[in-house]
Amino acid sequence: MKPSVKTLTEAARARLNAVKSAHDLEEFRIAFLGKKGAVTELMQELKALPPQDRKSFGLEINELKKFIEEAVESRRNSFGGESETAAEFDETLPGVMPPCGKRHPISSTIEEICGIFQRFGFDVVSGPEIETEFHNFSALNIPLDHPARDGFDTFYTSTKHLLRSQTSTVQIRVMEKHKPPLRILAPGRVYRPDTVDASHSFMFHQIEGLWVDENVRFSDLKGILHLFLRELFGDKTKIRFRPHFFPFTEPSIEVDIQWGDRGWLEILGAGSVHPNVFKEVGYEPRQYQGFAFGLGIERIAMLRHGIHDIRYFYENDLRFLKQF
Ligand code: PHE
Repeated sequence: MKPSVKTLTEAARARLNAVKSAHDLEEFRIAFLGKKGAVTELMQELKALPPQDRKSFGLEINELKKFIEEAVESRRNSFGGESETAAEFDETLPGVMPPCGKRHPISSTIEEICGIFQRFGFDVVSGPEIETEFHNFSALNIPLDHPARDGFDTFYTSTKHLLRSQTSTVQIRVMEKHKPPLRILAPGRVYRPDTVDASHSFMFHQIEGLWVDENVRFSDLKGILHLFLRELFGDKTKIRFRPHFFPFTEPSIEVDIQWGDRGWLEILGAGSVHPNVFKEVGYEPRQYQGFAFGLGIERIAMLRHGIHDIRYFYENDLRFLKQF
């Protein structure tokens, strides 16, 4: 004859009084609620009963089950929440290594470039990605109806704001707020409605540099860029300055580096700040001179690491990211 629910409840009470450790408690729990525990067996019996007897018997079993569960819960806390496994903690086992993240190659390239310019006395600043037409175009001497604007075209919001298409916006934001001397570096995302392929993305990263003072010359720009590119690409790097056009600098140049058998590769745009830009931010163009430069981060990271497809940067494929 199997014990009744009542006798089992009494047995449980008595046994509970004898529980002195987390280990005892676990044995107690298993004896009643385990796979072959007393309560579990009662449940089996319940299933075999004729339907009219099930209800009251079921209620009794549930009562007992609840009593045991609550007792285990409250006593467990009194043993400092220690579970059976904690009691058997083996300090000689090797630890669990949490997966360790690394810098994304875009972030580490930005950090490295900022580090070089910080040594030249530049401050790293940032500006908004959602911009006004004024900061992205007009203040940079790009009239709204001028063809020069095509190259910098971008995404617009319904409120006439836009996603900046160049970090040159930060030149304007900084000059609006501060008087020279200024030496800043502004890394960040930019957006252009390009069709995505191996070398184009609708979003990429640029770094903008700006130096304004009373005595800054074009030769200073040349010296700084020379130092920077040799620091980044190595002492022996050959550098070429080529005349170019940007609406916001005059004269403007593009800078190339010599890259093995691929010949000259364009690496950045630069020039002396256009007097119209100074006027827009309320600087006296005859008092101040300055230079600005802008470079694409993805392009530099691709060259340095031999990456052939810009899309790898944004796919977050760990097989790619783990290599850096
Ligand atoms: N803003 C230019 C571009 O996106 C780069 C640039 C910056 C050129 C500063 C000159 C001076 O192409």
